[in-house]
Amino acid sequence: MHYEKHFSKLEKIRWRLEEDIDWDHIQPELIKHDQKSLLRNICMTEIGALFAAEAFLRDFYDDIDFSCFVSVWYYEEMKHFLVLKRYLSHLGISIGEGELQHLRMSIPESSQETILMVHFLSEHRLAAWYHGISDWLEEPVGKNIFKRIAEDELRHGQAYFDFIQKDLKQQPEHLIKYLKTALFMLSPKAPADIHAVTLTKTTERLENPDYILYIEGTVVSDAVKQATCKRIYALLSILAGTTLDSYASLSNFIKSLKKTNRLASSIAV
Ligand SMILES: [Fe+2]
Ligand SMILES: [Fe+2]
Repeated sequence: MHYEKHFSKLEKIRWRLEEDIDWDHIQPELIKHDQKSLLRNICMTEIGALFAAEAFLRDFYDDIDFSCFVSVWYYEEMKHFLVLKRYLSHLGISIGEGELQHLRMSIPESSQETILMVHFLSEHRLAAWYHGISDWLEEPVGKNIFKRIAEDELRHGQAYFDFIQKDLKQQPEHLIKYLKTALFMLSPKAPADIHAVTLTKTTERLENPDYILYIEGTVVSDAVKQATCKRIYALLSILAGTTLDSYASLSNFIKSLKKTNRLASSIAV
């Protein structure tokens, strides 16, 4: 089971909330007012893992391996919420249970291929955003927290990738569904904040639902964005079994797959 492999891997490198964060040395004076508001929004968005976990367990009812893995993923995502909530409390910012309850929602059903690809790409984008925030912050404890959670998100992206590969080994015909979702997410015409949390409208009930646009537009460097994009296309190439190094090459490959499928079904008739 992939669950077993990822459980062991994540267990070994797991950071501890009490031991690994230097809570006694936070320097609140180094955090600017606009940074506080952004951190608060990020913290509240992390609780969206609760709604996603519910949807995963429903939509992957027939996949025992992935359903087990959700327990590890959900634990780590809720720890992101908790570490940020505690960090904010050191800055004099609180988040009440009522506010969190107000965010409660149910995510509509979706296909397993769409969910896995959306989350594979979203974890990569989130890792880039958090790396960017780590560089952007001057406060050292905050920098360390965002570096740690960025690395977690990247490992989550790798886990989703492994589950996609597992599915493709069993059902190679699913490739086109995965790649079409990637095409939708990576389109140059897609909103700059496209991500699982904006697609599911998790962020819409926040005071400032557009905060991700600010991160994407102002906080993250072009170098980080380009490195993330390169990594995503390298992994999509592994799935496709051919080099996909740009949006155009992904689009052309999907067109060729559709053509092959049409040909195959006309021969079958
Ligand atoms: Fe997270
Ligand atoms: Fe994650």
